[in-house]
Amino acid sequence: DATSPATDGPATDDSDGPDLATTAGRIADLKARYHEAVTVKEEASAAKQHSKDKLTARERILGLLDPGTFVEFDEFVRHRSTGFGLEAKRPFGDAVITGVGAIDGRQVAIYSQDFTTFGGSLGEVAGEKIIKVMDHAIKTGSPIIGILDSGGARIQEGVVALGKYAEIFRRNTAASGVIPQISIVVGPAAGGAVYSPALTDFVIMVDKTSHMFVTGPDVIKTVTGENVGFEELGGALTHNKLSGVSHYLATDEADALDYARNLLSYLPDNNLTDAPVYDVEPELEITDADQELNTLVPDSPNQPYDVTKVIEHIVDDGEFLEIQPLFAPNIVIGFGRVEGRSVGIIANQPNAMAGTLNIDAGEKAARFVRFCDAFSIPIVTLVDVPGYLPGTDQEWTGVIRRGAKLLYAYAEATVPLVTIITRKAYGGAYIVMGSKQLGADINLAWPTAEIAVMGGQGAVNILYRSQISDARERGEDVQALRQKLASDYAYEVASPYLAAERGALDSVIEPAATRTAIIKALRSLRTKRASMPPKKHGNIPL
Ligand code: HXC
Repeated sequence: DATSPATDGPATDDSDGPDLATTAGRIADLKARYHEAVTVKEEASAAKQHSKDKLTARERILGLLDPGTFVEFDEFVRHRSTGFGLEAKRPFGDAVITGVGAIDGRQVAIYSQDFTTFGGSLGEVAGEKIIKVMDHAIKTGSPIIGILDSGGARIQEGVVALGKYAEIFRRNTAASGVIPQISIVVGPAAGGAVYSPALTDFVIMVDKTSHMFVTGPDVIKTVTGENVGFEELGGALTHNKLSGVSHYLATDEADALDYARNLLSYLPDNNLTDAPVYDVEPELEITDADQELNTLVPDSPNQPYDVTKVIEHIVDDGEFLEIQPLFAPNIVIGFGRVEGRSVGIIANQPNAMAGTLNIDAGEKAARFVRFCDAFSIPIVTLVDVPGYLPGTDQEWTGVIRRGAKLLYAYAEATVPLVTIITRKAYGGAYIVMGSKQLGADINLAWPTAEIAVMGGQGAVNILYRSQISDARERGEDVQALRQKLASDYAYEVASPYLAAERGALDSVIEPAATRTAIIKALRSLRTKRASMPPKKHGNIPL
């Protein structure tokens, strides 16, 4: 076992135990203790978890880290609680395994809750272990990864357990924007325990295995009378699709660990370092693959297309790691690389709800903008948005307050911002999606762009109301007239050349030139310096 500090195995066959007066005896004693604390416990844990087709807490850590790099902390810790028979049950290491190790050669801090010990619950010493490893991560500027599988606060330990959660939340908050924090939920995360993952940057859940909820089905039944099962209430699909709590729906535990490793490859260790840079020699001439973008946007403005095709054409090797693909699919967010360097991509998706912005899309993108900004990852925005989704549902659930988050996030971002308008950029949605005036550095558009206060049909209804009603009275073909006026409007008023004339666009480019234009834009922005006025902190609309 490459992870053990001492060679594993029973120390001695001598029933009298090792001679502690000698160095050899002390070493043998250490081995015996390690064997009991780690090996015996792990075997028992494996028997329980494997019977449920689950990995043990330790296997999850070893599956995530580079072989031989895990250094455990606190394997000899034991709780001091009494009552409820706890004094007779004091397992080594308590209900969480913590330590440090490497992923792709980069140091990370990690903790993994052990469901087979007190249901992975968080008592005083399990809390102290997590706090210690979080403090280590913060002071060393290493990403922290939490693997959660827990019944929540240890019921027997009452307020002491609750207090430890509070201390963890404080550290999650202090670490926010300083080191990347990733939560991999592989079992239950119940009650207030959900809030540690919620405070972290990325939450990965495993299909049919992970459950997160503040109040469980029994309490819900008692209080509201609703009947709902664990899976429907707080399963991985629910939180990936409906609530947006989770950022990735893993098919199994191995997939969850793979995603976490992949995600980390795009992120810096902390806010003072750069994300890993890969050696890539880009082609600066327009390639055959680039040419494909020239035929992507359909001639009809009402016909959708898949914006991920554009993304795949601009990132290195077409590799795009999408974040939250199932939630608010009308906006696409994720990481790619340009010239071997990480970029965050935000793109309206015409294929889903015509790419309209709604509350969910705004919040999804806003949090992503803030993550990228905190960790100095440049943002490329692809715009094709007909506007905000209209409706009472949106207005009454706070599209004003909640939609403002995306404005705020872009407006305060100081990382390089490159925006490409591929087609529609109407109204407030034009402004919010990384417009020049909101603070973007390089703004480009395709010749298919339409930038205006509103779409052609809406504008014609207002601007040409009397002309249309006169035509109707004269018995003319109103539909054809309306169509002609709308397309004239789109061509003349919404033309990207008007925006280019005013400098709101730095240029209009053919789609095939997008990849090379982004490379050059990001090169020129590599030395960007910008700062916001000094303040304690802003007050983003929440
Ligand atoms: C102590 C716990 C525990 C807990 C589970 N166990 N949760 N021990 N404190 N919170 C123990 C069980 O007693 C059992 O011990 C073992 O873990 C496995 O639990 P099972 O119930 O047998 O497992 P399973 O059927 O898979 O159910 C898992 C579960 C259920 C859904 C998580 O255990 C459960 O509902 N637990 C309570 C969840 C909860 O309400 N927690 C408090 C939330 S409030 P034995 O010895 O029999 O193996 C909270 C506040 C946080 O967390 C505050 C932060 C602000």
